[in-house]
Amino acid sequence: MVGKRPSVFVTSELPGKAVDGRPVLDPLREIADCRVWNRAEMPQPEALRQELSGCEGLLCLLTDRVDRAVIDASAALTTISSCSVGVDHIDVTAATERGIAVGHTPGVLTDATADLAFGLLLAAARRIPEADRFVRDHRWTPERRWEPRMLLGADLSGATLGIVGLGPIGQAMARRAHGFGMRVVGWTRSQRPVDGVEAVSFPRLLEISDFVSVHVALVDATRNLLDAAALATMKPGAIVVNTSRGGIVDEDALARALASGALGAAGVDVFDEEPLPEASPLREAQNIVLAPHIGSATYRTRESMARLAVDNLLAGLAGRPLPQCVNPEVRRRA
Ligand code: DGY
Repeated sequence: MVGKRPSVFVTSELPGKAVDGRPVLDPLREIADCRVWNRAEMPQPEALRQELSGCEGLLCLLTDRVDRAVIDASAALTTISSCSVGVDHIDVTAATERGIAVGHTPGVLTDATADLAFGLLLAAARRIPEADRFVRDHRWTPERRWEPRMLLGADLSGATLGIVGLGPIGQAMARRAHGFGMRVVGWTRSQRPVDGVEAVSFPRLLEISDFVSVHVALVDATRNLLDAAALATMKPGAIVVNTSRGGIVDEDALARALASGALGAAGVDVFDEEPLPEASPLREAQNIVLAPHIGSATYRTRESMARLAVDNLLAGLAGRPLPQCVNPEVRRRA
């Protein structure tokens, strides 16, 4: 007997190819009726609820808010697969209560994200975007040649990098920092020891680090972890890097600390509200390097993420354990 094909809603076309060279969504199209959202603007909650009606599967992005209302309205849903490692856009508790498996894409974006974090660290320390503007704006003139005080920045070798969150991306950041001769200290909520990283308390990390790089997930316990009070305890002139999630660093407090010179610089790829609002005070700061959430934006990484997101959904639709599941207890209970 041939079973009914499941229905699936995919909130965006995904880049790259499947392992056999076909477009990456083809394996899904082969076994399911796939509707792919192809408008430039992302689906708003009402559209998401409508599109999901009757669907067993959802393949979404970190920009899709899959809240309790969306989950409650989607009676047939069995599997949510997000093409992201972070799942703060999904109400995982509501999904778990409903027995819906939630998949994500850890591992495949570790190096790309750590590369970007380290790139922002270097760019902020050595003022690379300012230097670029300096040349383009015709401020490097024969009257103002090379001079010894021009665009001075911070040294990396011998400096202390404090890593907040020692998961795979935090650890990859530590490896890069060692290559640059930095001392690496770290704090993680689980207090699990990590080779090559000196474990310190969170307050101590802020107190002694010349650079602080954020790599924790956004959950209730990490929201505003670097608030005004925490930022005020950092070393004068320290540099903050955040490639994890907005909402962990208080953006208004960061902008004030950058403007006052309490902090030396920052490199930020993720924001509380994305795209970064026009009125954000961070846009005014000269000593910040801004990026539009591109931590995992390499060809190979995005292809790997897309493949894993498809594999998660295929497994869920077939009633198999997801290769990367946020709430494996759902299948164990079944
Ligand atoms: C993620 O996957 O959660 C990153 O923020 C984007 O790649």
